[in-house]
Amino acid sequence: MKIFADTADLKEIRTWLDFGVIDGVTTNPSILLANGVYQVREGAVAIAKLLGDKPVSVEVVTDDPREMHAQAVEMASWAPNIVVKIPIITTQGEPCLGVISALTKQGLTINATACLSFNQAMLAAKAGAAYISIFAGRVSDEGADATQVIGRTAEWLNAWSLPSKIIVGSIRETVNVQEAALAGAHIVTIPPKFLMQMVDHKYSRFTVAQFLTDGLAAAERMRAIEVGLGVDGGGVKKPTTHRVK
Ligand code: E4P
Repeated sequence: MKIFADTADLKEIRTWLDFGVIDGVTTNPSILLANGVYQVREGAVAIAKLLGDKPVSVEVVTDDPREMHAQAVEMASWAPNIVVKIPIITTQGEPCLGVISALTKQGLTINATACLSFNQAMLAAKAGAAYISIFAGRVSDEGADATQVIGRTAEWLNAWSLPSKIIVGSIRETVNVQEAALAGAHIVTIPPKFLMQMVDHKYSRFTVAQFLTDGLAAAERMRAIEVGLGVDGGGVKKPTTHRVK
């Protein structure tokens, strides 16, 4: 399974790339706005460059399918690793499947975004989307079971050997990452604040602190033995090879 960072924050992207954890990045207009990126091209190119050959998703900003097509072609020309996000439908419910299909046939890599149901995901796959973004948090907002949507879509794609990859987004809690991963997501895209929460654990901190304290104490006693102070308190046995005077 791959992990993407759901952010436009270059510092965070660099950090998680250096940690060897992320395989790509997703953005959307709200993420760009929240990160102070108002120039879409500039922001997208900076992320694309940082990622090397890993993909970054950038979304069209129009409700008109014809304009979506033109914007997508333009965006894809900015860098070879740009994946264009096309919403599954417009704000009026008009299908964007034709745009997804045409762009895919033209050779663009398309991420069908804002999918909230199995049926939408199925149609996006049939239209040729390379990625299908299922928004788990928003599925749950509607009272539906996101893991079921993810699981059934993954099962169906697999059953018919379809190449589309599920990206699970809209992560609201760290447990959602685990749920998506175990439900069959090919990719989970995670905001950096959750990545940081995922790696931390208070009992791990305690454990590491305990070992560090004991390790340092042992080293201290060893030093004392070596300089002939004859420390034998604290239950530490004197090593036979270093006899104390
Ligand atoms: C990722 O591709 C999505 O755009 C993002 O995860 C959506 O998250 P939200 O539902 O919190 O806006």
